[in-house]
Amino acid sequence: MKLLRFTLGKATWILTVTVAILAAVFYYFDDTASSKYTSMAENIKTLEENFRGQNKSCFILGASGETGKMLLRELLERNIFSKITLIGRRQLTFGDKEYENLVQEVINFEKLDDYAAAFMGHDVGYCCLGTTRAKAGADGFIKVDHDYVLKSAELAKAGGCTQFHLESSRGADKNSNFLYLKVKGQVEAEIEALGFDRLAIYRPGVLLVDRQESRPGEWLARKFFGAVSAVCSTSMSIPIQAVAKAMVSNTLLQPEQKAEILENKDIFSLGKVKENK
Ligand SMILES: NC(=O)c1ccc[n+]([C@@H]2O[C@H](COP(=O)([O-])OP(=O)(O)OC[C@H]3O[C@@H](n4cnc5c(N)ncnc54)[C@H](OP(=O)(O)O)[C@@H]3O)[C@@H](O)[C@H]2O)c1
Repeated sequence: MKLLRFTLGKATWILTVTVAILAAVFYYFDDTASSKYTSMAENIKTLEENFRGQNKSCFILGASGETGKMLLRELLERNIFSKITLIGRRQLTFGDKEYENLVQEVINFEKLDDYAAAFMGHDVGYCCLGTTRAKAGADGFIKVDHDYVLKSAELAKAGGCTQFHLESSRGADKNSNFLYLKVKGQVEAEIEALGFDRLAIYRPGVLLVDRQESRPGEWLARKFFGAVSAVCSTSMSIPIQAVAKAMVSNTLLQPEQKAEILENKDIFSLGKVKENK
């Protein structure tokens, strides 16, 4: 009995210390809330109306993916574009009436130059394209997350697109020793060098979404960060809805710099803007 009490006491102590350490780590990484977007909540309606009045068009790359689907839904709901084009490798089918005015361009990403016309005449471009090393191998990952993304951005720029929104990743760094972060950092830098009038790079942490496709590592990370983010906001993960909302709200803004990087915390703040409306 004495031994059991001792063991339980020790276990509780270890658990308390572990939780305290984890809380300290998350507190450290959980940089102070970005307040620069909160004032936007008050005039979001006016911003949307003004933008809508400009009759702009956009395209989405990766609209069949988790973020892309959510982004498309958010764009349709807020109705800020007069035309939305989905550029992808396959035709998508939608049941709801609100999707019926979408334009779809089915292209072969291996021959992107042959599809330059698909990228012409859009004011704004959103890129949520990507794969994983587990799914496509190292070369396949580089091909999609770097080559396809960069070439698409080049074609979009040549086709008159002035505003490009790129979903990248937390920790993207062209000098990283990790392939994933290195590739993300490289493509960010190369797209910035294209000189869009406006470039927004989003660096979300682990995307919190009930993904249909099985990705065990990501599932584990999602469960962990999902539980953590339920008790404290964290810079390590983000619900996918917040990313989509942030991308749309940010489209309405006119930042001082041509190129901006939105870290996870910024995406959180922007993602909440519409909820506060
Ligand atoms: N998962 C995370 O936790 C996480 C965290 C931070 C950043 N990110 C980044 O955020 C972006 C979006 O992630 P997500 O999870 O929303 O994406 P996702 O659900 O995996 O969707 C990826 C999209 O890319 C397209 N795609 C993939 N391989 C392709 C290929 N070979 N040719 C043409 N199209 C291809 C897919 O089209 P099909 O439907 O035709 O396959 C789909 O539309 C990615 O760049 C990802 O690296 C992800």
